[in-house]
Amino acid sequence: MEKKQLFESRGQGQIFRFWEGLNEKERANLISQADEIDLDELDDLVSTLVKASGDKESVNFSALKPAPYLPIPEDLDTNEDWQEAKKLGEDALRKGKVAAFTVAGGQGTRLGYDGPKGTFPVTPVKKKTLFQVFAEKIQAARLRYECELPWFIMTSDVNHEATVAFFEANDFFGLAPDSITFFRQGRMPAVDYDGKIILESKSSIAMSPDGHGGALRALERSGSFKAMEDAGIEVLSYFQVDNPLVQAIDPYFIGFHLKSGSTMSSKMLPKAYEKEKLGHFCVLDGVTQIVEYSDMPDDLCALRDPDGKLSFRAGSIAIHVISLDFARSLVAAGSSVSLPFHRADKKVPFVNEEGNTQKPDTANGVKFEMFVFDAIPFSKNPLVIETTRLNDFSPVKNAEGIDSPESCRADQLKLFREWFDAAGINIPQGFDGSIEVSPLYALDKESFVSAWKKNSVSIDFSSDVYIG
Ligand code: UTP
Repeated sequence: MEKKQLFESRGQGQIFRFWEGLNEKERANLISQADEIDLDELDDLVSTLVKASGDKESVNFSALKPAPYLPIPEDLDTNEDWQEAKKLGEDALRKGKVAAFTVAGGQGTRLGYDGPKGTFPVTPVKKKTLFQVFAEKIQAARLRYECELPWFIMTSDVNHEATVAFFEANDFFGLAPDSITFFRQGRMPAVDYDGKIILESKSSIAMSPDGHGGALRALERSGSFKAMEDAGIEVLSYFQVDNPLVQAIDPYFIGFHLKSGSTMSSKMLPKAYEKEKLGHFCVLDGVTQIVEYSDMPDDLCALRDPDGKLSFRAGSIAIHVISLDFARSLVAAGSSVSLPFHRADKKVPFVNEEGNTQKPDTANGVKFEMFVFDAIPFSKNPLVIETTRLNDFSPVKNAEGIDSPESCRADQLKLFREWFDAAGINIPQGFDGSIEVSPLYALDKESFVSAWKKNSVSIDFSSDVYIG
């Protein structure tokens, strides 16, 4: 068999060691997985990331500088620069140049929830799921800017069917089904510490999603880039599936991206404390990049400016605006640049010599992942812009504690209380219920205040409050 010979000739014949005992379906499965593997790429990764000391090129930390960022002004409404950017962003939206893009292919292991993370209920009163929150934000933006605003959602092999079925079961949350494109991200095989591809069962290879950076390849391969081009899309509003507070469509952000001639822009938050687990926006030899929190030396994390602020305070929250042409250029055939893979040591279930799958207690192999923020160094005029926590960031990552359903719920309550205050709604002392505002009622404080002025209703604070 040709495939078997090929893998054998590359030292990976072990994936076929149970071949003789497999039935036709199992053989077909194994072959189709083997077809997904680019052996040249894998050889390269094994020699650079598995057999060498690791993927961490030693950064010259003494030359590392904090990346400059555009600070958020005290009063957006009167700041000419920000108002001009907002107009530009709104104009791009009205002209149909923007698509929303959600990466939802992760495995959500930390949350420990059974099902695609986007189907996790997250809002305080109605328990809307993450996908519903984004759908409503997108619908609200479509109505506000009278535009198509297509939505692209990247899934993985593991959660694709469940994700699509969830949207179908919920009538796509009122969005036209053909305005949402679901596509699967790529997969990579896991290898052991000798670089051998791990077999998970007799007939399947241990494959896993290739990281959110795999989005660019997957957009190309799925034909989504082409569809975007045909629809006149010029920029993607990129956000992650786990963050319901994100301004999925932010005209200021889009406007600044366009105004500054950037090809990939990013939002930042000043880190709340030295060791907050956010990547750091840095500049090294004139190139803007993110240094992961796990790579940043303690002394740099702790370094302070004369005014007492952390020097490396610009934390990445994985919200980007990316120009379509730029994203495509990174994955075009013959492109001189590409996103690097990173190594992650994991416990990878494997098949033992008796043919049974075994779960290891400690890491036994390496998975390969790409990160979307690795595109930033290739960007022209990469822009980093400040936002505020409540208006953009409260992810659901962990089952409890920091970045958990509980902390996210508390942040939503804080945000909606702020909106109530701004609209002059008096929350009775001692009210300990929950408050929730539908994105279809208001997307932000400003629109909440003006919607409330037009049609306020009397609120019954004897139970939870939902404004929709
Ligand atoms: P995380 O880095 O939080 O990973 O993903 P995760 O897989 O969701 O969760 P853990 O680490 O297993 O607990 C950040 C975002 O990137 C997406 C996720 O769906 C989430 O929106 N992502 C991550 C992908 O789309 N594909 C991947 O391969 C990895």
